[in-house]
Amino acid sequence: MVRVVAGVLACALALVFVPPSATAQDEVAKGQQLAQALCAQCHLNEGQGEKQGPMGIPGFGAVANRPHQTLDGIVAWLKSVPTMMPNHNLTQDEIYALAAYIMSLRKRR
Ligand code: HEC
Repeated sequence: MVRVVAGVLACALALVFVPPSATAQDEVAKGQQLAQALCAQCHLNEGQGEKQGPMGIPGFGAVANRPHQTLDGIVAWLKSVPTMMPNHNLTQDEIYALAAYIMSLRKRR
């Protein structure tokens, strides 16, 4: 029983600590975890589309699928620490992971 618990813990830890040589896939997974922890309440609600109303918040799917959206565009937005969002004190790595995750929601056209 102890062994099983230890095994499960080891797997959980392996998932949390992404190795430095993270592949693009890992980057997206890391961004997704961050987004779920930090941004979901505002940006990942069921069926959330483009922003509506003066204080509307767009869902990440809508952000990713803007016609001219790019990874750099999202990175630039996050680096600017926009006043309408809480300051999450993101590191460079976190910003790129979040942008990679958001862009992974882009549908191929
Ligand atoms: C308290 C709510 C809130 C949280 C939490 C939040 N945001 Fe935002 N976000 C906003 C608002 C409000 C806007 C601005 C919408 C506007 O006026 O264009 C915005 C806009 C954005 C945009 C630009 C969308 C566009 O119009 O191009 C991105 C990208 C974004 N947020 C990413 C994030 C990420 C990544 C996180 C988590 C680290 C996050 N947000 C957390 C409220 C929030």
